[in-house]
Amino acid sequence: MSARDPIRETILSLRPNAIGEVSRTGLGDRDLIPLWFGETDLVTPEFIRDAAKKALDDGQTFYTFSGGTPALREAIRDWTERWYGVKPDLDRVWVSGAAMLCVVTALQCCVETGDEVIVIGPMWPNISQACQAVGGKPIFARLEDEGTAWRLDFAKLEAAIGPRTKAIFVGSPGNPTGWVASDAEIAALVALSRRRGVAIIADEVYSVMYYAGKRAPSFLDHATDADNVFIINSFSKAWAMTGWRIGWVVAPKRLSYAMAQLAVSNNTGTTVFAQAGAVAALREGDGFIAEMVDRCRAGRDIVRDFVAATNRVSWVEPAGAFYAYLHVDGLTDSLGFAKDLVKTARVGVAPGAAFACGDGRDESYLRLCFAQNPERLKTALARLSDALNA
Ligand SMILES: Cc1ncc(COP(=O)(O)O)c(C=O)c1O
Repeated sequence: MSARDPIRETILSLRPNAIGEVSRTGLGDRDLIPLWFGETDLVTPEFIRDAAKKALDDGQTFYTFSGGTPALREAIRDWTERWYGVKPDLDRVWVSGAAMLCVVTALQCCVETGDEVIVIGPMWPNISQACQAVGGKPIFARLEDEGTAWRLDFAKLEAAIGPRTKAIFVGSPGNPTGWVASDAEIAALVALSRRRGVAIIADEVYSVMYYAGKRAPSFLDHATDADNVFIINSFSKAWAMTGWRIGWVVAPKRLSYAMAQLAVSNNTGTTVFAQAGAVAALREGDGFIAEMVDRCRAGRDIVRDFVAATNRVSWVEPAGAFYAYLHVDGLTDSLGFAKDLVKTARVGVAPGAAFACGDGRDESYLRLCFAQNPERLKTALARLSDALNA
């Protein structure tokens, strides 16, 4: 028998997720207030749950269209038109499963082993891990923390494009920073994609969780079907459906065949009764989105007060999404601190190390999700404040 390890080297070299490492420390602690994951504490609204239950009771338990049911794709097209003023052709709309699977599918479309993907960071770690898992190499283009805003250094980003660069990953609004690409930056990124022949993977899962208008500037405003731009969205955040594992992508029509093939081999389509719930979310859920944004805005105000009252902490106030990425003076080991915090203060936060861009600068940051019950959030921040002052 050969002693050769059948598992790919790349897979064996994937680093453990630092957020998971911290959350495991607090497993089973009922007094702990968890702010480490990217989700609200609200249950999915009843009208969405009812639509999924009805689909189950109607016998929707069979295989269905691998790119999404026609009803859901039409609902996505109509919702997109209502929110963005853009009506994508139905054969550009794909429901492959959760947004994370949409990202993987887009990467599978573009990346051969050894190719590079530029990731605008700091960024949620699952993205760079997905690049690695498909055989690619993530290269970080770091946003600069300028105290009151995050700044994209466009020249640096373009300089990072090399002969093996296949795609640029842009998460806007961003996790963990809350950075929102401006309309001009999005236009420039689309132009860059055309000029340099690289795809854009635009992750817009927080698009409607935006504080300066109805929705954030979007690649839908600039990318045409002729552009190699994948625009990804999700039901997870705006409709409180993280456990449903469902999202969608608007992709170039030219890639329809590839998307269809990948859908078949990845998961043969996503859960059919979840898709019925998703249709209800899109058709009847604008009121709930408004509630969610209000909840997030209130959470952001609470964090703003905490930052003002706490000497060691500063932040760039997020323009979108529902995270505070807090800079802590003197913090050099975010993972160790976050683990201690779980045990001593009973608060769960994500360590900056999880979002690292390879330059060590995220070690002095902590991320928390503020889409929470206001009283619990205040209690958590009081505990964090005591721990920082101890
Ligand atoms: C930037 C970003 N993309 C994608 C996702 C995941 O979305 P989904 O639950 O649809 O996989 C997250 C979740 O935190 C995220 O922050």
